[in-house]
Amino acid sequence: MEGLSLKPQLLNLHDQQALVAALRTLLIEAPLFRPEMPGTGKPFSVRMSNCGTLGWVSDRAGGYRYQPTHPVTGRPWPAIPDSVLQIWRAYSGYPADPEACLINWYEPGARMGLHRDADEAAKDAPVVSISLGDAALFRLGGPKRSDPTSSFPLSSGDVLVLGGEARHCFHGVDRLIPGSGGPLGRPGRINLTLRRVTLATGYQYSPTTPKTAPNTPKRVPTTPTANPITAI
Ligand code: SIN
Ligand code: FE2
Repeated sequence: MEGLSLKPQLLNLHDQQALVAALRTLLIEAPLFRPEMPGTGKPFSVRMSNCGTLGWVSDRAGGYRYQPTHPVTGRPWPAIPDSVLQIWRAYSGYPADPEACLINWYEPGARMGLHRDADEAAKDAPVVSISLGDAALFRLGGPKRSDPTSSFPLSSGDVLVLGGEARHCFHGVDRLIPGSGGPLGRPGRINLTLRRVTLATGYQYSPTTPKTAPNTPKRVPTTPTANPITAI
């Protein structure tokens, strides 16, 4: 598919372990929380945190959105680790840095339903995803939910760039592939997704990209949705 680029094993085991250690420290400052589906309040099976100037959150009342602070602690998100920014700069092909790095934590049994990443005003920027820990079966479809899908594994150290057409396609995670090893020393999977959220100033949209009004952040008070969990 146009815009899809998988870089298997871009991070060696040493780099993966260093990144996991950095993330474990970061999750003390910004603990994992459990997002909820808008409207229904159904909890996600994946727990999340963020680093960057903006973080993606979701709860029953406020829905999907980006905000500069953690929904439970109220503190600003920690900075994106330098090694992660370097990956964006080397592989995104995008002239501005990402604002959001979503940290997804999959316990064994967790999954993520088919969805599109559509809460970003910078629709022309790719999404760069980094996988750590147990491998996962990643499912990719087309721009419509009803389009046919196919799946492929994402393993620890893999970097996936979703740009161009692939950036706007439905995707999800069917399941973890247990026992695939890696840097965590325990079952489970971390996925980082780097995203540019706002339009970068001084950067012109490509004329082939449909223009979309920037998101206006919803000012809905958030309630803690779960006990913060730091141990991954
Ligand atoms: C996501 O789409 O937010 C996560 C994808 C993944 O875990 O690989
Ligand atoms: Fe996504």
